[in-house]
Amino acid sequence: METFQGTKDYWDASLYDGKHSFVSKYGNSLVELLAPKDGERILDLGCGTGDLAGTLYECGVEVVGVDKSESMVKQAISKYPHIQFFVQDATNLVYDCEFDAVFSNATLHWVQPPIKAVQAIYHSLKQGGRFVAEFGGKGNVQTITAEIIRQIKNSGFEFKAEQFPWFYPSIAEYTKLMEEVGFRVTFAQHYDRPTQLDGENGLSNWINMFGGMLFANIPEHTKGQIIENVENNLKETLYQEGNWIADYKRIRVVGVK
Ligand code: BEZ
Repeated sequence: METFQGTKDYWDASLYDGKHSFVSKYGNSLVELLAPKDGERILDLGCGTGDLAGTLYECGVEVVGVDKSESMVKQAISKYPHIQFFVQDATNLVYDCEFDAVFSNATLHWVQPPIKAVQAIYHSLKQGGRFVAEFGGKGNVQTITAEIIRQIKNSGFEFKAEQFPWFYPSIAEYTKLMEEVGFRVTFAQHYDRPTQLDGENGLSNWINMFGGMLFANIPEHTKGQIIENVENNLKETLYQEGNWIADYKRIRVVGVK
C-alpha cells in the first residue's frame, strides 16, 4: 500500500492489520487472476504488511515486496522474515527486465503520476511478462468522499482539489496509459464491490485510517465533528444490520509486455 505523495508516512501498520485486513483478503481472488507458477519471480507492488506476498511465497514464487511506507515494510519483514521487502516508490522502481509478473492490489489509486508507475512496471518486467492489478476505479467510495468534502466545506474550511489523494480512473483511461507505454491489454474490468466495514465504528475507523489527507489543517475536534456528521448523514444509505457497507468500485487489468 502506497503512501500519499510527499514524505509523511500516514500508515499505522497495526491498525491496518487489525481492522482493515479485508484489503488482503479480497486480494486472494486477484492472486487467482495472476495464476502464479512455481519458480516464477514476481514483484508485489504495494505489498503493505506482506500478506499477499506470503500467499505468493506459499505458491512457490520467488517474491519481492515493495511499498512506499516504511512502517508497512517493517511490519511485513517482521511477519515474513523469509521474504525480501524493500521501501520503494512505484514511480521509481529500481528493476530492469527481471520479473515474470508485477502484481499490485489496492495500491495504484494512491500513486501519482500514474503514467510514471506504468512505465516503471513495464521496465521491471521481462519481455512477455505480465502486469496484473486491481485498485479503485472511477466512482470508488464516492458516496463517502463526497459527503466528507461537503461537511468540510459546511464547517467553513476550504477543500482544494489537490487534497484529494486518490486517482480513480475508468478502464478506458487506464488501459490507454498501459497501451501508450507498450502493454498489450488482455483483460480489463470495472465492477462494484460493496465492502463491509465491520461494526458501528467501521466508517469512522476507515476514514481515520485512509482519509487523513482530506483533513489537512483541520483541528482534531472539528475533524471528529465532521466525521460524526458524515456518519449521521450516511447511516440511512450505507449502514445495514450493524455494519457499514462502503461503495467500492474496482478496476482490474492485465497487460503483457
Ligand atoms: C480502495 O482500496 O479502493 C481504497 C482504500 C482506501 C481508501 C480509498 C480507496
